Amino acid sequence: MIIEKNNIFQLDTDDTTYIMRVSTAGHLLNEYYGKRIRSAVDNNEFSKEKWPYAHGCSVVYDDKGESGYCLDLVSLEYSSIGKGDYREPSIELKTENGYVLDFKYSSFQINKGCIEVNGLPTPHDADETLIIYLVDEVAKLTLVLTYMVFEKANVIARSVKLINNSTANVEINKIMSLQLDMLNQDFSLVNFNGAWIGEMHQSEKAIGQGIYINDSKTGCSSNRHNPFFLLKAKECTANFGNCFAFNLIYSGNHLEEVELTTFDKVRVQLGLNSYCFNWILKPNEEFDTPFAVATFSANGFNKASQNMHDFTNNHVVRGKWANAPRPILINNWEATYFKFTEGKLNSLAKLAADIGIELFVLDDGWFGTRTDDTKGLGDWYVNPKKLPHGLEHLADKINKLGMKFGLWFEPEMVNEKSDLYIKHPEWAIKCPDRKESFGRNQMVLNLSIEAVQDYIIGFLDETLSAANIEYVKWDMNRNISDIYSHEYSQGELFHRYTLGLYRILSVITKKYPNVLFESCASGGNRFDLGMMSYMHQTWCSDDTDAFERIQIQSGTASGYPLSTMGCHVSASPSHQLLRRTPIDTRFNVAAFGCLGYELDLHKLSPVELRAVKAQIDFYKAHRQLLQYGTFYQLKNMNTDGYASWMVLSADRSEGIIGYYQGLAKANPKIDILKGYNLIDEKLYNIEVRYQEVNIKTFGGLINMISPINLNEDGFLVDQISKRKTMDGEKETYDVYGDAINNGAIKLFPQFAGTGFDKNVRLLADFGSRLYYFHTIEKKDEK
Ligand code: GLA
Repeated sequence: MIIEKNNIFQLDTDDTTYIMRVSTAGHLLNEYYGKRIRSAVDNNEFSKEKWPYAHGCSVVYDDKGESGYCLDLVSLEYSSIGKGDYREPSIELKTENGYVLDFKYSSFQINKGCIEVNGLPTPHDADETLIIYLVDEVAKLTLVLTYMVFEKANVIARSVKLINNSTANVEINKIMSLQLDMLNQDFSLVNFNGAWIGEMHQSEKAIGQGIYINDSKTGCSSNRHNPFFLLKAKECTANFGNCFAFNLIYSGNHLEEVELTTFDKVRVQLGLNSYCFNWILKPNEEFDTPFAVATFSANGFNKASQNMHDFTNNHVVRGKWANAPRPILINNWEATYFKFTEGKLNSLAKLAADIGIELFVLDDGWFGTRTDDTKGLGDWYVNPKKLPHGLEHLADKINKLGMKFGLWFEPEMVNEKSDLYIKHPEWAIKCPDRKESFGRNQMVLNLSIEAVQDYIIGFLDETLSAANIEYVKWDMNRNISDIYSHEYSQGELFHRYTLGLYRILSVITKKYPNVLFESCASGGNRFDLGMMSYMHQTWCSDDTDAFERIQIQSGTASGYPLSTMGCHVSASPSHQLLRRTPIDTRFNVAAFGCLGYELDLHKLSPVELRAVKAQIDFYKAHRQLLQYGTFYQLKNMNTDGYASWMVLSADRSEGIIGYYQGLAKANPKIDILKGYNLIDEKLYNIEVRYQEVNIKTFGGLINMISPINLNEDGFLVDQISKRKTMDGEKETYDVYGDAINNGAIKLFPQFAGTGFDKNVRLLADFGSRLYYFHTIEKKDEK
């Protein structure tokens, strides 16, 4: 709900309140953002910052108002340069009259629902939108601040429009989407960093005085520093204490700044990166920033993440696949890489269909002369040597097996060795007088050029309309370099590239509303809310190693819902770390997200294939929970030595707890099964997902039970282990919710070198379990 009275604005969501006031001098100030409080607009003195005197050295704005009113000290909703605020400004313009700006409140408007911003991804189905107009009468510029309120998700989305009403050009050097000035709560900054095959690793630091930057300059939102971050108050833990979360709905260069001043005020900003950014705004032109989003939780970081999950599922992801069950897929990339034939694909698809997989994805290598990654990008016509009967025929065959067919594209790229590059070398981004630099042997097409956008729209349309393609994987495998634009001012290229991308995505996703789109950029190099506004899910990482994935998925799930996370079971040893992990751990990790398999199923033993079949059955039975359940991080591998995740249904009647071990320990401690937020007084049955034990796990100990002496590395043990397993534990309890909430369940002890039977849990290194729970009737009520 949005209320305005006497120039005070109060924005309420279910659990939060945001208060702004127009100061006597005319600036828009922030007075409160936190847990929901009663309406403040009638009794407006309590939240007001009082400034009866000026601090030494400060520049006093206007003596006629409060004598201590200095822009350096007050909490501004938007800040500029030149009138005494020496913190990082949210806008930096170069006008005919220099850098000084002073925007004052002019008017407001409250609308039902959302507003659309041209060319940029806009969240949908807001409850209400507040628009505030600020004007600089001298520079003849208007700032339009937009606040969309999403009540149930507890999110406020903000964007800014700059209108040039003057008669001269204005240069925009910096223009942020969101600024929030608030009092410090001994905040820690939690951001998510990484690189290829190591995305979204969480880092936490207590902030001291100074400026902290989280950004990307790569042309993508990047795997280096995701735009999502948290500010945790000192006392904040998983489910307790104040936590703010922020994100930007944008896929290009971004900038997030957190500044702590001497006066213990924190300034938070999110928006376009000013790196290589310089936009010429002509008279009567407007410039829109992307939307930034903020949420607050008084119940720890899990609730802040859950707010962002709600928001993404209900207000970012669009169309038929929003909130819809996502199919289990098989992707041929790690199974075949470039070396496939039609026969090989058909046989992989046949086996996948037999064990219940629902979608077959043909990855890189089906087009042009693409037999390795040095050539072919740009030539989006089928390679007849690999697929002699064409895509339509292949899709038909897959459909006849009862599976959907999906296809990989990397539309934004071109190889030097391609027909497209020979025809249009000027479409690649490169400097006229310098040798171009390659990444993965490829160059980036200049998506700021309309003809390039139309070319991409054209070939996608042609391919998608020619065969029954029900899923598209949209890849982007290098960062942008050699930035140069023949068409626009150089400082506009990065942003215009992203705008061009959004135009293509918007046209194609509107034309093919039934297709499920998965975004990918060498894994998670563009895992952001901008892409999610068009694409339903995103491939988290090219790292499919189950242990590494625990970190990556924990970090990703802090900001993004499980329904957007592509997670696959792959071969062991993993192709990225050459680490061996059990087939069930690979599933137990990948199950918290949109499940896929990415390995040659033919290479699995009968025992492993049986395990995979059981995994698929389990996932199908609990898909809603695993894709859309309320997600909780219970334990973090880095801090607790093991990881634990939980999903809970909205009515709290069922859920799943995942337990993941790193290295096994001698004399293991007693493991406790602990959940959160189950209904205390309800009776639940909780049961481990059954996992068979591979006899090879026991190594030479196999001879303790074998009547003949066996070589544990020999042919015979190998053959037996492919067909025979030992029973795993079947641990189950009927307990009240409070027992699970409070960690009263003590699990069977882990294997400790002496004795194994049905009451021992064998996890070993990288072992894991899933525990499914659901409410049952009390025994005396039966
Ligand atoms: C990227 C993707 C992979 C795969 C390859 C194909 O690395 O992240 O999943 O599609 O490209 O070249």
